[in-house]
Amino acid sequence: MGQHTIVMIPGDGIGPEVSGATRKVIDAAGKITGARFDWVEMPAGEAAIKTHGDTLPDVTIEALNQHKIGFKGPVGTPIGKGFRSVNVTLRKKMDLYAAVRPVRNLPNIKTRYDNVDLVIFRENTEGLYSGIENEVTQGVVASMKVATQKACDRIARYAFRYANRRNRKKVTVFHKANIMKLTDGLFLRCAKKVWEEEYPNIEYEEMIIDNACMQLVKDPTRFDVLLMENLYGDLVSDLCAGMVGGLGVVPGANIGDTVAVFEAVHGTAPDIAGKGLANPLACIMSGVMMLNYLHDTRHDESCRDAAEKIKAAYNALLTEANKATLTRDLGGTAGTVEFTNALIEKIK
Ligand code: NAI
Repeated sequence: MGQHTIVMIPGDGIGPEVSGATRKVIDAAGKITGARFDWVEMPAGEAAIKTHGDTLPDVTIEALNQHKIGFKGPVGTPIGKGFRSVNVTLRKKMDLYAAVRPVRNLPNIKTRYDNVDLVIFRENTEGLYSGIENEVTQGVVASMKVATQKACDRIARYAFRYANRRNRKKVTVFHKANIMKLTDGLFLRCAKKVWEEEYPNIEYEEMIIDNACMQLVKDPTRFDVLLMENLYGDLVSDLCAGMVGGLGVVPGANIGDTVAVFEAVHGTAPDIAGKGLANPLACIMSGVMMLNYLHDTRHDESCRDAAEKIKAAYNALLTEANKATLTRDLGGTAGTVEFTNALIEKIK
């Protein structure tokens, strides 16, 4: 089977801990299935300022353009001042327009909710994340929300195509087009058009975002595929993560037409960074998404097999519910390393 070069961006805070764990797990599974990976480490985030004088150095962008697949740990962004978000810049520069975030209950992770099985599609390149802000006059600032037909169309098409391929029954579009009549209005119109013209076989639903949040926490099982613009996707992802055990268990992918970068939903978790306490599972699950993507796009069976082995291993580990091998966010006592080693033991 082929060898895949992965651009590895370790990131800040817990990033190096959880992305390092993921690399070990993927290599262990690949050893068994014959999938081989060459990890090219590239800088981004606060760490890159020290080494390259830039939060997103050109070498990182060039490597992603060359190898097409990235795996990224979280990177920090200063609040209310400082440099522009590396994530926003990366997603825009590489045109990673679809954030895909599956949210499901996992074995023995008890929450208030059962049978949660959602996939969030977040438009990843515009909306209020465009970062176009200005001071109109002293004491008055403005932030511009941008929506383009091209971006609204392609994220809608991506979500419906996914729903169709995976036999999902319904796509619900979250919006606030009653207030943002132009921007969210365009998002809604594009989604509806894609549904009507290309996927009428799938159930389509529109819901105002405030009501949607209430409906989600009341009964998430009434939803299936969720489609929304950038900021709503950011908020709803964390809200949904809370339903299935928190940010330690929700993976993600940023997909473009030619390049894809995989990363968990969570951030740098400054409160636990460097303490060896982070749960690497969300990151590892993002790695499983990467392996499945490699199978889908490069038809490498050994990647799909590696994904299946990792999935079976973490399901087995969670089913055992042994406190000594679960991280603290899941009620256990294990650190990142203990969890990772226990998981690797289960890969067969
Ligand atoms: P956060 O996701 O880093 O942390 C929120 C809470 O969840 C904290 O209590 C943290 O300890 C916990 N948590 C997160 N990941 C965990 C894990 N793997 N295991 C166990 N506990 C975990 O969100 P916060 O505090 O809002 O953001 C911190 C920084 O991360 C900010 O600079 C933010 O800009 C950045 N960020 C980066 C992202 C990325 O690079 N994709 C995504 C989200 C935030």
